[in-house]
Amino acid sequence: MRKLPRVVAHRGASEVSPEHTLAAYQRAIEIGADGLECDIRLTADGHLVCVHDRRIDRTSNGRGVLSTMSLAELEAYDWGSWKRPWADLDDEADLPGLDEMKVLTLDTLLATVRDAGRPVELAIETKHPTRYAGLVERRLIEALDRYGWARPKLGSESPVRVMSFSWLSLRRLRTAAPGLRTVLLMDRIPLRFRDGSLPTGVSYAGPSLEIVTAHPEYVDRAQKHGHQVHVWTVNAEEDLRRCREIGVDVVISDRPDVALRVLAEP
Ligand code: G3P
Ligand code: CA
Repeated sequence: MRKLPRVVAHRGASEVSPEHTLAAYQRAIEIGADGLECDIRLTADGHLVCVHDRRIDRTSNGRGVLSTMSLAELEAYDWGSWKRPWADLDDEADLPGLDEMKVLTLDTLLATVRDAGRPVELAIETKHPTRYAGLVERRLIEALDRYGWARPKLGSESPVRVMSFSWLSLRRLRTAAPGLRTVLLMDRIPLRFRDGSLPTGVSYAGPSLEIVTAHPEYVDRAQKHGHQVHVWTVNAEEDLRRCREIGVDVVISDRPDVALRVLAEP
């Protein structure tokens, strides 16, 4: 029997919790998600933080470009209340504490995965890495090395894979850490990779939902080349069912609770 797709919580359980906060990730772990997805950006003083946008305006009460700010400046803002009222919180006692609404560092997320009490996958996306001439990748490898996850020892497995729309970013990472698993995100499949092959050094394919909906045969082709297929971002129930039917390996979803329920339907 074919395995069900694994469920990766996109920016945490981001439909109901403020994206990229510790609360969103803890909730995804409690729900039973197989993995977590996060985007990383570099602060002005060289820390990696989990934030999607170039500017902090949408997901905090501050304004400005993240890369011009220090970690201490980012920590002074509130990263949770833009999402109030949370979709399913009707009791004040359920509101996450202040610490959970701070900007989240990659290091804290790595520690959360390590301490989850069960295996949890972590898919880390490098955002606009080419602007930083390799610094994002160097900092990322240093962070992963602190957990033994960039170059896992023989017999141990890293829960981490790194995703990017930039092949250059993935190549830099694989040059520094040849054992690191990588996912090439694609919103279109380049002509030369339509047969399901991938550039050297890329472990898995990361096509958009739109690609696999229009070209479901791509999934089989990539898998025949030995590549898992990780699809983003799958939220609607009919899309989750379709992904199961065409046999993708991973669905990345804002709604891990819904995804787990729908994928387990008889
Ligand atoms: O998981 C890949 C997906 O997150 C890429 O799009 O904009 O949500 O980072 P975005
Ligand atoms: Ca992302």
